Amino acid sequence: MNLKDKKILITGASKGIGRATAIALAKEGCSVAINFKSDTKAAQEVLDECNRYSKGNILVRADVSNDKEVSEMCQEVKQEFSHLDILVNNAGIFDENDNSINVEAFENVFRNNFLSAVMVTKHSLPLMQEGKIVNVSSIHGRLGYGRPSAAAYSAFKAALENYTKNLAKDLAPKILVNAVAPGRVATPMWGNPDIKEQEELGQVHLIRRMIQPEEIADAIIFLIKNDAMCGEVLTIDGGMGLVTLG
Ligand SMILES: NC(=O)c1ccc[n+]([C@@H]2O[C@H](COP(=O)([O-])OP(=O)(O)OC[C@H]3O[C@@H](n4cnc5c(N)ncnc54)[C@H](OP(=O)(O)O)[C@@H]3O)[C@@H](O)[C@H]2O)c1
Repeated sequence: MNLKDKKILITGASKGIGRATAIALAKEGCSVAINFKSDTKAAQEVLDECNRYSKGNILVRADVSNDKEVSEMCQEVKQEFSHLDILVNNAGIFDENDNSINVEAFENVFRNNFLSAVMVTKHSLPLMQEGKIVNVSSIHGRLGYGRPSAAAYSAFKAALENYTKNLAKDLAPKILVNAVAPGRVATPMWGNPDIKEQEELGQVHLIRRMIQPEEIADAIIFLIKNDAMCGEVLTIDGGMGLVTLG
């Protein structure tokens, strides 16, 4: 798929992986709808950066865990773009109170890390004749387990991978659906770690460093450009998933 002039919606694009992906897609010549929830200043900076590389980029504020706001966001995208070629379901959260039995954390993470992707997909599909969807999962979902202090996070990333495959079966060949499963990426989700903290956090990877958001953006663009992958989950974890039996 050639990305020039393609219309893209990316959720959670004011920071981290979403930000890097929005900018990388603008560099490819796409018009990007930059979704965010609360950080208008950061989102505006992403828009300004995207506008250096491509035309027609827009900000679309919406809480993607809220169906009404998602519906309104997609109406706005329809008005501005008329259609969508690509959707990247990236928005997600980590709940500091996550543990194996915290039902509130499970509900919070369920809405923000899983149901959000289903709702955005539901309201985006009427705008898509053909194209690509990429879901942002996690190595925590990939392995079939995460860690007890991220029990809800792991469970709903695993659900997102399962959903990715069923959606791929449902929508192929017109729309190809895949996912990425990153390891530890240096983003605000980790509290903007400085170089020393990044070094420490990166030790769980065989590459002995954290992954940069641009490296996940590269993988997302690879999946978007590739026309043969369907229902695949691409792991970019610096070898983290291989460490278990080490
Ligand atoms: N960082 C990692 O190590 C890592 C590893 C594996 C997978 N992931 C996944 O990668 C994705 C992005 O993570 P990240 O590390 O880049 O996160 P981040 O730096 O914390 O950024 C999160 C982004 O999502 C937006 N967001 C959060 N909740 C939202 C909602 N309900 N509606 C709309 N936007 C919302 C935020 O917008 P505002 O700031 O405007 O509120 C922000 O733009 C997530 O799905 C995460 O689970 C991350």
